[in-house]
Amino acid sequence: MSDIDIISKYREQFVTHLQTRTKLGKPKNLYEPVQYILGLGGKRMRPVLTLMTAEAFGGKAEDALDAALAVEMFHNFSLVHDDIMDDAPLRRGKTTVHEKWDVNTGILSGDAMLILSYQFFENYPAEIYFELTKLFSKTALEVCEGQQYDVDFETRDDVTIPEYLKMIEYKTSVLVAAAMKMGAIVAQASQKDADAIYEFGRNLGIAFQLQDDYLDAFGDPKTFGKQVGGDIMENKKTYLYLKSLEKASKDDQDGLLHLYSIKPDDSTAKVEAVKTIFKESGAVDETKKAIQDFTQKAFDALAKTDLPEKNKALLKQFGKSLMERTV
Ligand code: IPE
Ligand code: IPE
Ligand code: MG
Ligand code: MG
Ligand code: MG
Repeated sequence: MSDIDIISKYREQFVTHLQTRTKLGKPKNLYEPVQYILGLGGKRMRPVLTLMTAEAFGGKAEDALDAALAVEMFHNFSLVHDDIMDDAPLRRGKTTVHEKWDVNTGILSGDAMLILSYQFFENYPAEIYFELTKLFSKTALEVCEGQQYDVDFETRDDVTIPEYLKMIEYKTSVLVAAAMKMGAIVAQASQKDADAIYEFGRNLGIAFQLQDDYLDAFGDPKTFGKQVGGDIMENKKTYLYLKSLEKASKDDQDGLLHLYSIKPDDSTAKVEAVKTIFKESGAVDETKKAIQDFTQKAFDALAKTDLPEKNKALLKQFGKSLMERTV
């Protein structure tokens, strides 16, 4: 089987499991949004990583399905609440939950998803259950911390690049890392391997969020699935923005600071002006370089595991494909 076939196999195995485990309950207005958001698909990157890691360490993908489901359920919960916080109209090419229903529905259905995600761990033996929930709680709290920094940064004008990197590590990369470590825990890998694979996921997750920030500004609206320019409208202090402030001419720096202090009703001109500065300052090139650097750090961590070369190659291939993604 080619690497792509293996990855599709994990994805299909996961989706089948998701469908059997998530039945529409009552009240409808609580569970329908849960079905809706999970049914919109998405890349299913985190659960695929959980299954892949479990098998890479000699476990069975089947045994990792509930952990994978917990991670994907939590991820979808975080998206429902994130879209409220970011005032986002589109998710995976469709209307966001809080726009299709309303904000209160998004809050409560999101809460239910968070609780459901914990329940999936109950199917594991006590020792594994403890390890998984312990990692999960730590991770979930870090995601909340990352989300709060992201919001706080919208109205700060002195955010530094190390602060930004910490923020994306928390809001995004720790969940990718935990998804992989859970695969290692289910497979009862050694502590050294579990820690190294976490480090792989953490660096890959940072590269992934940098790429997400790039696509948010420069992705193709037809395929990206989210509102292109949304981060600029919300004055998100991304790597593109911070590098532009560092590298642009004095005039462009002043222009950018001004553009990021306003929220016009029609943001078309603002988004275009900001994107021009991102490109001309060289910030786009710097961002692409940072994506490569973090991906390389991830590969260095992978090399420290005792995984068979074949399994390392598969994980590396997956990492490379993320760098080239357009959705
Ligand atoms: C979106 O995650 C949120 C980020 C952390 C960037 P994904 O890009 O994995 O979203 P889906 O699940 O594929 O839609
Ligand atoms: C999302 O970050 C992180 C979490 C949901 C925890 P973003 O706000 O950048 O994600 P998108 O771009 O809406 O998917
Ligand atoms: Mg968002
Ligand atoms: Mg957000
Ligand atoms: Mg984003």
